[in-house]
Amino acid sequence: MGLRAYRNLSQIMTLDGAFQKNGRHLKPNDLGILENATVVFDQEKILWVGLDKDVPAEYQNIPGRDFKGKTLVPELVDSHTHLIFGGNRSQEYTMRLNGATYEEIAQAGGGILNTMNGTNSLSAQQLFDLCVERIERLYSYGVGTIEIKSGYGLNLKKELELSTLIDNLKKYFHPRIQIFNTYMAAHAVPKDYANSADYMDKMVMPLLEKLAPTKIIDAVDIFHEKGYFTTDDVKKLFERARALGIPCKIHADEFIDNKGAILACEYKALSCDHLLSTAEDGINTLANADTVATLLPGTGFFLGKKQADGKKMLDAGVKVAVASDYNPGSCHCDNLLMVAALAAPQYKMNVTQLWAAITLNAAHALGLKKQGAIVPGLAPRFSLFNVEKADMITYSWGRNFAERIS
Ligand code: NIG
Ligand code: FE
Repeated sequence: MGLRAYRNLSQIMTLDGAFQKNGRHLKPNDLGILENATVVFDQEKILWVGLDKDVPAEYQNIPGRDFKGKTLVPELVDSHTHLIFGGNRSQEYTMRLNGATYEEIAQAGGGILNTMNGTNSLSAQQLFDLCVERIERLYSYGVGTIEIKSGYGLNLKKELELSTLIDNLKKYFHPRIQIFNTYMAAHAVPKDYANSADYMDKMVMPLLEKLAPTKIIDAVDIFHEKGYFTTDDVKKLFERARALGIPCKIHADEFIDNKGAILACEYKALSCDHLLSTAEDGINTLANADTVATLLPGTGFFLGKKQADGKKMLDAGVKVAVASDYNPGSCHCDNLLMVAALAAPQYKMNVTQLWAAITLNAAHALGLKKQGAIVPGLAPRFSLFNVEKADMITYSWGRNFAERIS
């Protein structure tokens, strides 16, 4: 592909100011709205963005598309999903609505181990087909970069299959949809192991050694929580991942504040996610670190828990992202834009903080520093919406205005 232009856009949201400020301390006018605007790009990068009337002579006759009446934004990124799973947990959700807690259901043999059975009962082909359908649905909302965690196989053979499947999905969707492959065998401890340390030694670490030379995994992740994985388990995984040159992510401080955010920063993790219970020391540590705080409001809503203290984090200068956490247990909702728009008033996010959380900062949560804003030099990854103004998108909770660019 040579040079191309998208012209006559009613609005282009550049997020230029947010990009300049590296996603922190964002103000409403850091959104960078251009009206009646054009963007010029080649396959690798954006070359020019500005008003239609100012397009330089050299770009005036290049091939392009007319997008009158539409709005272009930096590509939406869902930086935390568990979308590779079999079965569903609708019955558990009903039990929770009737009063049982997530933790009680898990202790009684439900929860992640229930989905482990559902996932192991499907073939690789069945799982692949399910994932294709799920990824296309996310794409239909305007999400073009998607992180997928393994972690419902929980035995050597199935976890290897899941990580390989995510790699196959990455190849299948390239370049239209960008997939990020996270290894999360440390998701729950199956009953056949003595404890989490035993499972780490016999399963998680050996499989990491096997996967590392294949280069198919983009990061590791672990569920650091009482009843799941301990601080020692996290350190073991992160030390080895660091030595192998694989970035780290962590499910941190979800049910209790076990200082997961601080641990994440110590290991320069790409992100720490959930953070429902993170206290002031964790927030202050994050404010001075590169690690992104990924909030998952859909999970707070679905579990009926108190949400993360998004306002305190934003005020402190933490780099905040929002993701769906789409999974069969704690958040069976895959609509990133809807959960972010719904949660924004609770986190007291201004509109730039809201958009940066699902574009620029979400890309940074995956280590993707070359996208997330429509500025020259960054990758031409965009989402297009059939509205004249971006305001309509976040105003209309759950309504889908996204358009596929064919
Ligand atoms: O991110 N917290 C750990 N993992 C998922 C829940 C998975 C499940 O319940 O199946 C989460 O919320
Ligand atoms: Fe998760």
